Amino acid sequence: MNIHQKFAFIPDQISINIAAQLEIGKLFEGYIELYMPYIYSLMLFNRPKLFHLLMQQFWYRDVLLQWYRSINGKKASVIELGCGPGEFLMRIAQPGVSLTGVDSSEDMLRFFRRKHPSAPVTLRRGDALSSDCFAGQQYDLILAASLINVVRDKRRLLANCIDHTSTNGSVSFFFPTESMSRSNAERYAKTHDLPSLSQDLLTTWATNARKLGAEQILSLLPSSIANTAQVNFYLDEMACSLTFSVH
Ligand SMILES: C[S@@+](CC[C@H](N)C(=O)[O-])C[C@H]1O[C@@H](n2cnc3c(N)ncnc32)[C@H](O)[C@@H]1O
Repeated sequence: MNIHQKFAFIPDQISINIAAQLEIGKLFEGYIELYMPYIYSLMLFNRPKLFHLLMQQFWYRDVLLQWYRSINGKKASVIELGCGPGEFLMRIAQPGVSLTGVDSSEDMLRFFRRKHPSAPVTLRRGDALSSDCFAGQQYDLILAASLINVVRDKRRLLANCIDHTSTNGSVSFFFPTESMSRSNAERYAKTHDLPSLSQDLLTTWATNARKLGAEQILSLLPSSIANTAQVNFYLDEMACSLTFSVH
């Protein structure tokens, strides 16, 4: 039993539930960093719940859906690498699209299965740096949100994705950029009048995330692919997506 499994019960018990937190939070709206102890307890002991909670914030969810909609081309078979607790896959599920989620963490996959027992998604534990995670298949679209910025061997991840993209398929990464600083996150939260929980989640993300520039990924791609890659910015350029096609 790892540390996350061992302490997985703690945040549920101390927080009762998120809805109650939100109600209590409204009373204290405007008090800064109200939710920080809760968020950091999730970061330490229940990461699946943290990423699930993040996906419930409209600014995060909308940005990821905007990213997905910006990707043109074939989408009959889609795989998300580093799918976490799976909320994003559930949001993009639609008839005629075969979805696969891969994550290296059994805790994440267990949370996904528990939340969505009849999800129309094939789930697989695997390492995005190994070809095994594709189970010998090719996909029309390979997606990864907040993964390329955390893996050490980015070149290998890119090569692995390119090898498993079907002809005229696409690969797309979403990641926080160098502009994702605490001060920019606070400014964004203020300008968009985000509620306290959202504000604290965004600040925590900005403080802890590993950041990346699109040019770092482009420099690792063959020029024939890099030249046609599309880069889009989100959240006042604090996050970015990079999409390329494989012919
Ligand atoms: C920062 S979380 C992002 C989760 C989700 N994609 C999101 O945007 O909310 C990164 C996820 O990638 C997974 N991960 C990290 N390294 C991985 C690897 N080499 N192969 C597969 N999954 C990996 C982690 O377990 C975690 O679920």
